[in-house]
Amino acid sequence: MKSTGAKESRQVSENELDLSLNGDQSDEVIQTLEPFRRMHPGDARSLSRLTANSVDLVVTSPPYWRKRDYKLENQIGQEKTPEEYVTNIISAMREWRRVLRPSGSVFLNIGDTYWQTSLQGIPSSIEVKAKKDGWRLRNRIVWVKSGGTPDPAKDRLTPRHEYILHFALNGYYYDLFGYAEQYSSKNTGANPGDVWTIKRERNLGKHLAPFPSEIAERVITLACPKYVCTKCGTPRRRIVQRTAELDPSRPQAKRAMELAKQKGLTPEHIAAIQATGISDAGKARFTQSGTNKNAEDVKRLAAEAKALLGGYFREFTFAKRKSCGWADCGCGVEFAPGVVLDPFMGTAKTLDVAQKLGRSCIGVDLDLSAVEERAQQ
Ligand SMILES: C[S@@+](CC[C@H](N)C(=O)[O-])C[C@H]1O[C@@H](n2cnc3c(N)ncnc32)[C@H](O)[C@@H]1O
Repeated sequence: MKSTGAKESRQVSENELDLSLNGDQSDEVIQTLEPFRRMHPGDARSLSRLTANSVDLVVTSPPYWRKRDYKLENQIGQEKTPEEYVTNIISAMREWRRVLRPSGSVFLNIGDTYWQTSLQGIPSSIEVKAKKDGWRLRNRIVWVKSGGTPDPAKDRLTPRHEYILHFALNGYYYDLFGYAEQYSSKNTGANPGDVWTIKRERNLGKHLAPFPSEIAERVITLACPKYVCTKCGTPRRRIVQRTAELDPSRPQAKRAMELAKQKGLTPEHIAAIQATGISDAGKARFTQSGTNKNAEDVKRLAAEAKALLGGYFREFTFAKRKSCGWADCGCGVEFAPGVVLDPFMGTAKTLDVAQKLGRSCIGVDLDLSAVEERAQQ
């Protein structure tokens, strides 16, 4: 087929097709400072050693209400009422907001408590109060705890899950692409969903509530930047673009590729299909440059492609995406690894994972003996 488009160019190939994009696409060596690891004693509600806008991600698991008594002055968890407990968690979150950059997030692992035969609804109270306090609740992830000890209860089911609540402000850093590459089923890159089945980790020391490393691994992969500008504090976000590469194991996709080749579709046709979406080629509103002229071109190219491909048109909207580099703020200075904070550090599992993943980390706890005990083990 002959296209009359101004951007007529090479025919689409059966191989991956790069679409034009802005930003840094190279795999250049990024000048990055070394990650650091810091630990100090302190109260999660008053992080006086931390400056404002210095942390990219808080991942933490506070003591749950009326569970383990750590016998520490100023400890959270042994308040008389669930309301007092929730107030303390909210005041800690306010302090975390001070130290977080605007692109930061909080992932709070929290469980509920039975008290006088009733669940207290603590996770939902935290959700409601945090939202009133200005946070956006982005996900209520269910951690399904596989395994576990028998429960003597005869009149209720054994609790086998907890929550990981994701709170953020506007414009938070999020690398769903990088996360899905690691955690989607059969590595399809599809959104892996908000149910995480993770085995508890046993801890034979006196610290009875360890955090499974996989929780920290998932959260850091999702929401802690690898590179942050040392001048303006902007995280480098991944640039992801769609390709024209389809899954050849699906007969419809294979046929779509054959048709595209036979009919002489160009990369611009494919880009127009993807810009338009499956709903209606005639209503293309999204363009690559945003100009009206471009909008007209996209509309026309999408309509041409639809006429030639018929029902196979939609196949190109399922094309694979690929990572093309990292956006650059343009300050021209060094980058630093993102900083993870665990303000109820316990055994410092979160810090170990952050280090393993090349991020900087800060741990705070009223009592550092669990870290020392673990170091001796
Ligand atoms: C559930 S444990 C954390 C477990 C940790 N995620 C791990 O993997 O080891 C809770 C920790 O909070 C600490 N803690 C209790 N109240 C605190 C407070 N007000 N500020 C800081 N830490 C506190 C306790 O000492 C305990 O180490």
